[in-house]
Amino acid sequence: MTTLEKAKHIAYIKALDDHKDFIEYWMSEHLRMNGLYWGITALFLLKHESEFQKDDVIQFIQSCYDETHGGFGSFPKHDSHLLSTLSALQILKMYDILDDTLTSEQRLSTVRFIKSLQLPDGSFQGDRFGEVDTRFVYTAIQSLSILEELDQGIVDGAVGFILRCQNFDGGFGMVPGAESHAAQCFTCLGTLAICGALDKMDQDQTELLVDWLSERQVISGEFSGGLNGRPEKLPDVCYSWWVLSCLSILKKLDFIDGEKLKGFILKSQDLKSGGISDRPDNQVDVYHTLFGIAGLSLLGYEDLVPVDPVYCMPCFVTNTIKKYPY
Ligand code: FPP
Ligand code: ZN
Repeated sequence: MTTLEKAKHIAYIKALDDHKDFIEYWMSEHLRMNGLYWGITALFLLKHESEFQKDDVIQFIQSCYDETHGGFGSFPKHDSHLLSTLSALQILKMYDILDDTLTSEQRLSTVRFIKSLQLPDGSFQGDRFGEVDTRFVYTAIQSLSILEELDQGIVDGAVGFILRCQNFDGGFGMVPGAESHAAQCFTCLGTLAICGALDKMDQDQTELLVDWLSERQVISGEFSGGLNGRPEKLPDVCYSWWVLSCLSILKKLDFIDGEKLKGFILKSQDLKSGGISDRPDNQVDVYHTLFGIAGLSLLGYEDLVPVDPVYCMPCFVTNTIKKYPY
């Protein structure tokens, strides 16, 4: 079997910032903070986080702080959003520079910004423009967990909303009644885990969910071994993370064939220039590079840092977060 081309992936991630002369660089401003998190987390799992200069990272994150609303945008002068706020907090937490970087005023305003986005039904909107999705519940809850600012009102509302997003097949959707989707299963289980509420799921529903998740592995054809996000879809490397993290949280990793999945992820590497794509022979990107490596970490691939399936950060980092209820 091919092996993980660690040195090439490190070089690929390091070079991502060298493309300022490409139109794609400027057209992806809205994803820059998330992109930084994907790249830095991959480097942490590969034990090469020092490839990025901490001072440059701090400077970029500070330049994305939103003075008006609190929280962080994805790029300087962008309004803050929950997705970029979580990525900023995760990066600061991983480098262990959270408390040194945020002033007490920034910390306070960021907590206020996140809490202000919870709606009366317990869900969260991503920013003040109102889009609601279980992604935003997860990003808010993980952000408040990193800041150790969860409280019972927030948690009870979030848990109630998440439980209403579970479907008859055991999976979870974006909002109550929406189709089950593996990435939404991750955001929902992750939220329940952070809130200490996994036991609030009905036992029969949990069994259905484990079956539904294990059926995500494609067992025949060209891409056999890979995991998909919904029935009848092509497998995609990022679901190595979205599905496997759920099975890991539920302690059922043995419900899929890990060796076959490893083979699918490794076949999706660009062996020449580094990076991992969604499936073999496609264009690589940093998102699929992280989730391929994180999936391999969950599978116990040699010499990778163990990743926490709830937070998608190294376990040695998440071990330092005080767990709710405080
Ligand atoms: C599918 O993306 C992914 C989601 C809907 C979940 C995203 C979750 C977050 C942003 C929360 C933060 C996550 C972490 C790990 C800290 P897609 O439909 O674009 O993927 P695809 O097109 O490749 O299938
Ligand atoms: Zn994908």
